[in-house]
Amino acid sequence: MNEQHVHLTGIGSYLPERVLSNAELETMVDTSDSWIQERTGIRERHIVAADQMTSDMAVEAARIALNDAGIGIDDIDALIVSTTTPDMVFPATATVVQAKLGGKDFPAWDIQAVCSGFVYGLAMADGMMRAGMFRRVLLIGAEAMSRIVNWQDRSTCVLFGDGAGAVVLEAKEKEGGVLGSVLHADGAYRDLLKAHHPHPGASPDRVVDFSLDAAGVAAVEMKGNEVFRVAVTKLGQVVGEILEHCQVDKGAVDWLVPHQANIRIIQATAKKLGMSMERVSTTVREHGNTSSASIPLALDELYRTGKLAAGQLILLEAFAGGFAWGANLLRWSK
Ligand SMILES: CC(C)(COP(=O)(O)OP(=O)(O)OC[C@H]1O[C@@H](n2cnc3c(N)ncnc32)[C@H](O)[C@@H]1OP(=O)(O)O)[C@@H](O)C(=O)NCCC(=O)NCCS
Repeated sequence: MNEQHVHLTGIGSYLPERVLSNAELETMVDTSDSWIQERTGIRERHIVAADQMTSDMAVEAARIALNDAGIGIDDIDALIVSTTTPDMVFPATATVVQAKLGGKDFPAWDIQAVCSGFVYGLAMADGMMRAGMFRRVLLIGAEAMSRIVNWQDRSTCVLFGDGAGAVVLEAKEKEGGVLGSVLHADGAYRDLLKAHHPHPGASPDRVVDFSLDAAGVAAVEMKGNEVFRVAVTKLGQVVGEILEHCQVDKGAVDWLVPHQANIRIIQATAKKLGMSMERVSTTVREHGNTSSASIPLALDELYRTGKLAAGQLILLEAFAGGFAWGANLLRWSK
């Protein structure tokens, strides 16, 4: 087999209809639109409907991505869903998505690297495809973060949102596509950003009411300013590492598509790369932090608005609970 390169041939995303504004949050917790915008850059976020699951958002994004690639679910060899908020403990949400899309007889599994899930998933798919295991992979990041947020905790509830993004990956002999990936994790930091298991079987003292109106549920817990400090440092390092790994000069990068947690973290990474904010995809204002959905959502935003051109270099990076962080470099080839 000749050397294979993994190209993004389809992309799609989905945001639930309901928009939760900072103004509405002001009526729920002791916060203000100006505090949220100043500290995070977030103005609003989308919230999944009561009768929607993570898999439903994943399916919507996947259908658009498949259509964009001009293929059907039967053309897919493997399906990976990155999610922190699976429909159930098991089966994997990926199998639910497979069934809802009418797919059969190909492997489907979930991965969990929280907000870095898409970067991890892309690295994993790229490795498996280069090794010849699969020719076409559907990779989805889908999250119902609103279901694991404590809506009485102002320090976290203002930050998150729901959504899904999907990409179709195809192995080809043609050069380009995923040029490389760098992944890291350091579990010594695991207590700074975490959510206890919502399922009573795993944690009998924590029974979670998943509704937006639920009071005082134990969910996302974060030492925000400590996370912030480490995130800025590690992301600054990892963007340097991926460029070195791929032998690319920072001045050659056309677009930065960062995980969307906080505009100030994004600005710090852009500064490290010497990139102006015009070359950075920022959706955090409208989406909030959608965990592993945020990168494909932000990439799709660039794509749909016609900003991407074949041959451009795109740097993806993410930082997550764990901590787990990483980056991928792509040469856009659509
Ligand atoms: C969460 C975050 C926005 C908080 O900003 P910050 O500047 O670090 O603020 P602090 O946590 O130090 O809190 C400052 C003050 O604001 C208050 N505050 C916290 N949340 C608030 C809110 N929603 N509205 C108003 N005030 C708030 C705090 O209680 C604190 O008050 P005090 O000084 O009286 O104690 C920021 O730390 C952050 O983005 N961290 C990283 C988050 C992240 O990336 N997480 C995901 C990684 S995937």
